[in-house]
Amino acid sequence: MSGLGDESDFLLSISISIKNKHPKEVKMAELRVKVTGIEFRNPVLTAAGPNVRNGEMMLKAFEGGAGGVVAKTVSVRPARDTRPTIRKTVCRGLVNCETWSELPFEAMLEEYRKVKDAGIPLIVSIGYTPKDMRQLGPIIEREVEPDAIEFSTHYSGRSVEPLVEVAKALRESVNLPIWMKISPNLPDIEELAVKASPFVDAFVAINSYGPVLDFDVETGEPILGSEYGQGWLSGQAILPIALRIVHQVTSVQAKPVIGVGGIERGKDAIKFFMVGASAVQICSAAIRYGHSIYGKVAKEIEKWLDEHGFSSVDEVRGLFKEKLKSRKKFDGIPVMHIEESKCTGCKLCVRACVHSALYMDGDVAKVIPENCIGCGYCQDMCNFGAMWLVER
Ligand SMILES: Cc1cc2nc3c(=O)[nH]c(=O)nc-3n(C[C@H](O)[C@H](O)[C@H](O)COP(=O)(O)O)c2cc1C
Ligand code: SF4
Ligand code: SF4
Repeated sequence: MSGLGDESDFLLSISISIKNKHPKEVKMAELRVKVTGIEFRNPVLTAAGPNVRNGEMMLKAFEGGAGGVVAKTVSVRPARDTRPTIRKTVCRGLVNCETWSELPFEAMLEEYRKVKDAGIPLIVSIGYTPKDMRQLGPIIEREVEPDAIEFSTHYSGRSVEPLVEVAKALRESVNLPIWMKISPNLPDIEELAVKASPFVDAFVAINSYGPVLDFDVETGEPILGSEYGQGWLSGQAILPIALRIVHQVTSVQAKPVIGVGGIERGKDAIKFFMVGASAVQICSAAIRYGHSIYGKVAKEIEKWLDEHGFSSVDEVRGLFKEKLKSRKKFDGIPVMHIEESKCTGCKLCVRACVHSALYMDGDVAKVIPENCIGCGYCQDMCNFGAMWLVER
């Protein structure tokens, strides 16, 4: 079982069991969620990035269907990033070397007010040191009164204790809900989550992954303008990393977790809820497809919930954890089974098996058991649910 394919056994089995429980479809699932006391009209929020770099962009994100707005990270000094800052790379990923806001802090205060005045749930993002937290936190609380403050740990080192100190400093400085954004590049995320949990109200996981490198093969030129051409990976390429980390953070402590990393479709977001997330954020897909992505993903979440008989996001939260506990593991090496009545003869699986364990017998695929190593790869090629592994 891959657990990551579109039509994985995992989703299929949940869908089957739920449909059996609720023969009549439940219509119009509830999309509203409440996280750290903040009510969002849907669970799809913006993630800090160029998609929300000023008030106008934040308003557009809300018009595009976002449930709430997390602003671009601001710090005590405006950033100066050498261009280019955002490029495409493999696996539907983006690489970026954009640090924090290039607008001065005082100018960002004006941008936040545009969002607040429109009555939109607003989370201000700040970075990076305990001193920065003590300086920026109280001003934001007093001048902007956002619904929460998110702080980025992306440029605050990789050791647990200093990161916990950042959380403590912000806790001592403001009364607002605090969201701690976790970078995937830390050696012990579970230890950080446990130790920081007393000082924060929620976690956001994950920031972009790296550092990474990509360049133009024809010219040898780095594709990013940063000093060594290095940057940070985001988009679909990091979705499985983000799922793993959200699962870890929701498993070792009780504060809510907002999932982020590679979300482009409703099904991506559903996976985050299933590993324990309370809401999700999107950055790269908004860069690629524009502000309407938030509303598109929210609609797809609603459709998926309706089709599977769930009435709210709450009902799917943590389903993966339950499945993990109850799943049956194979005793030995299984073999691929083909349900001939479902096989359309498309041959995709035959082409996919590098072990020559599949062949076409007329219009149906067949297995050569002695060649099959039970890897499971071919079932992800089958769009008709005709393949699954069985005990030998
Ligand atoms: C161009 C760019 C700029 C970003 N800037 C910030 C930032 O200022 N603060 C922050 O916490 N995360 C920042 N991120 C990380 C995103 O908020 C998000 O955590 C990450 O990209 C994974 O989500 P995604 O795959 O939906 O982009 C940035 C990401 C990109 C691509
Ligand atoms: S499970 Fe692996 S070895 Fe067996 S048929 Fe499928 S791809 Fe080939
Ligand atoms: S991929 Fe599925 S439908 Fe296509 S030949 Fe293989 S088993 Fe049959």
